[in-house]
Amino acid sequence: MSVRNLKWSLWLLSFLTVAMVWYLNLPSYTEIENFSWMYFYEYKPIYRQKFAFTLRERVTCSKKDPFLVILVASHPTEVKARQAIRITWGAKKTWWGQEVITYFLLGHQEEPKDNMLTLSVQDESILYGDIIRQDFLDTYYNLTLKTIMAFRWVAEFCPNAKYIMKADNDVLINPGNLVKYLLTYNQSENFYTGYPFLKSYSKREFFRKTYIPYEEYPFKVFPPYCSGFGYVFSVDLALRVYEMMAHVKPIRLEDAYIGIILGILKNAVPVALEKGCF
Ligand SMILES: *[C@@H]1O[C@H](CO)[C@@H](O)[C@H](O)[C@H]1NC(C)=O
Ligand SMILES: *[C@@H]1O[C@H](CO)[C@@H](O)[C@H](O)[C@H]1NC(C)=O
Repeated sequence: MSVRNLKWSLWLLSFLTVAMVWYLNLPSYTEIENFSWMYFYEYKPIYRQKFAFTLRERVTCSKKDPFLVILVASHPTEVKARQAIRITWGAKKTWWGQEVITYFLLGHQEEPKDNMLTLSVQDESILYGDIIRQDFLDTYYNLTLKTIMAFRWVAEFCPNAKYIMKADNDVLINPGNLVKYLLTYNQSENFYTGYPFLKSYSKREFFRKTYIPYEEYPFKVFPPYCSGFGYVFSVDLALRVYEMMAHVKPIRLEDAYIGIILGILKNAVPVALEKGCF
């Protein structure tokens, strides 16, 4: 064997050793097959979020009872997306004689380098009166806090609405069709609908956007839920979901979190997911 070959063999050997040691040090978990709501439920309401509203709109709801309130998750920097919604599908306020309100859900920016931007969110609020904001950092992993904020806002400032929808700001909604569907379906209690994931597996590859660690969610499958890009609740069910949120530790996937809550509520509440999703 030549010296060169020997050198390469040694390199290979040391590489394999390192790889093996790394592999052996990986934590190993066993995934639990069936979802158990007992794992998430805390009897004492210990997860009540204490973030303060720094902007909130409530005048509209105190004056009349809206039919549908669309709450759109949006990042402070996404001014253009909000403008696009304001002049397109968010522009018309009445559909089939029913009042539809569109508001945006914001957190605070990571590092407000210049005060220009925070000012402009405030300006937007003054100009359009459609911003709901709490003092948490607006990051991807805090989206669940944003969803909790949406439900809290409904509970505190707009419980007289009939339906609420949570959506993302890169989604095209046809409020006319939606209102027509809700009117035709005519179920204003225990109603939840959207694009359904009836058997969604938890993703364990760390490079995925929807990755979730075992510590946060040890089960293989999520309870049924509707995709976070848009789902609709009747307000009575939304209020019950909000109550339950205080008993369930938030996980990073906001839509799957709703699924967990509904999985817990299921004993008490028939969920119209299977028949109602569009
Ligand atoms: C979420 O927001 C809180 C409150 O602002 C902040 O302390 C925390 O670091 C944020 N979490 C993430 C993952 O960004
Ligand atoms: C909707 O349902 C309610 C009660 O279930 C009923 O009184 C009402 O007439 C229905 N409306 C339509 C348009 O079907």
